[in-house]
Amino acid sequence: MKVEAFIPAVLLLCFGVMLGLKSSCALQMGKESRSYISWEDLRVVEDGRPERSFSVKEDKSNSVNTNANVNANAKNATSLERFIVVDKNGRGDSVTVQGAVDMVPRSNSQRVKIFILPGIYREKVTVPRSKPYISFIGNESYVEETVISWSDKASDLDSDGKELGTCRTASVSIESDFFCATAITFENTVVAEAGEKGKQGVALKVTGDKAVFYKVRVLGSQDTLFDDNGSHYFYQSYIQGDVDFIFGNGKSLYQDCHIHSTAKRYGAIAAHHRDSPTEDTGFSFVNCDINGTGKVYLGRAWGKYSRTVYSNCFIADIITRVGWSDWQDPERQRTAMFGEYNCRGRGAERGGRAPWTKTLTRNEVKPFLSREFIYGDQWLRL
Ligand SMILES: *[C@@H]1O[C@H](CO)[C@@H](O)[C@H](O)[C@H]1NC(C)=O
Ligand SMILES: *[C@@H]1O[C@H](CO)[C@@H](O)[C@H](O)[C@H]1NC(C)=O
Ligand SMILES: *[C@@H]1O[C@H](CO)[C@@H](O)[C@H](O)[C@H]1NC(C)=O
Ligand SMILES: *[C@@H]1O[C@H](CO)[C@@H](O)[C@H](O)[C@H]1NC(C)=O
Repeated sequence: MKVEAFIPAVLLLCFGVMLGLKSSCALQMGKESRSYISWEDLRVVEDGRPERSFSVKEDKSNSVNTNANVNANAKNATSLERFIVVDKNGRGDSVTVQGAVDMVPRSNSQRVKIFILPGIYREKVTVPRSKPYISFIGNESYVEETVISWSDKASDLDSDGKELGTCRTASVSIESDFFCATAITFENTVVAEAGEKGKQGVALKVTGDKAVFYKVRVLGSQDTLFDDNGSHYFYQSYIQGDVDFIFGNGKSLYQDCHIHSTAKRYGAIAAHHRDSPTEDTGFSFVNCDINGTGKVYLGRAWGKYSRTVYSNCFIADIITRVGWSDWQDPERQRTAMFGEYNCRGRGAERGGRAPWTKTLTRNEVKPFLSREFIYGDQWLRL
């Protein structure tokens, strides 16, 4: 246990509250859940306060018989903020990420920050529906070294001898609402060669509503990021794969992200799964850097009413001329909504584009351009 390390920051926070310095603290003290995500939820401590070092030292000095005190302090601290430290080297509260998630009470109603110290965590992690308001926080200097990694693929068998299928391959599954993460790498190490069967391997699956991913990395090959359901905000993140590597029926904004294709020959970035015109879902890529290898589609119409828009993006010369695919169902050319607006780079040339896709006008693109697309005014305070 290294709870001690938090105490100074927590005490400072308490003083701040007592002196009425921080109105936001007052919010955290209440038992009521907050229905938004702010920068605070992605941070170790507040601005202007001394940062707690992630490199937990072997501090033996006050470990004798002070545990009771520390625990009491920690208990008091929970009324302000709750922290759980994951350190694979055994000096945190848990050596696994799932272990930390398991410590969070069911029907949790207050933000719990799980600090993940650098290391490769080889495990499959699920944040269940019953545990909202969880943050996964890494150290920004060690994003690439803070990895949750697993390697299930669709053709693997479960304990009943049934194939997992793509949906159950995720290294990390987020089923709860108001989740956020920063400075973590989510990885599925399965590599799919073009045309291979059963090699789909999801690194991150998000089914919960209202999630923020800031400066995370999501690494995989086929079906890397399963953006399944709900409104999600991916900001300044890195997403890598080759075939349909951002897929699902979420309503998500990808802003200032680096989308990296590792396709050797063909592949596709987005495969959105909107199936009816009444579904309020879609993928919007804004100001992203699209780069890598291959010749890939910007998107494929996995759903009949698939909806995907790229605006103000840099697109390297890695896109097929037609740009978009109807998933071998010409019907979908009438119903899918695929658009581009003000993109630049060789891959953005629309000369040979499928005629059923659109160069959007300023007016048409407007709803896709900002956080309004995901109703950010209701749940984002960033
Ligand atoms: C992150 O790591 C750096 C370098 O080891 C360290 O100086 C810094 O305090 C850490 N950041 C946090 C928020 O702990
Ligand atoms: C915890 O808070 C209670 C009152 O809420 C107080 O009586 C107690 O002294 C505090 N414990 C510590 C260790 O600060
Ligand atoms: C999908 O997310 C919406 C909120 O955007 C929620 O109302 C609905 O219940 C979710 N569906 C499933 C299957 O989780
Ligand atoms: C795109 O990738 C190529 C090759 O890796 C690299 O040379 C180039 O600088 C990248 N461009 C941008 C804008 O990231």
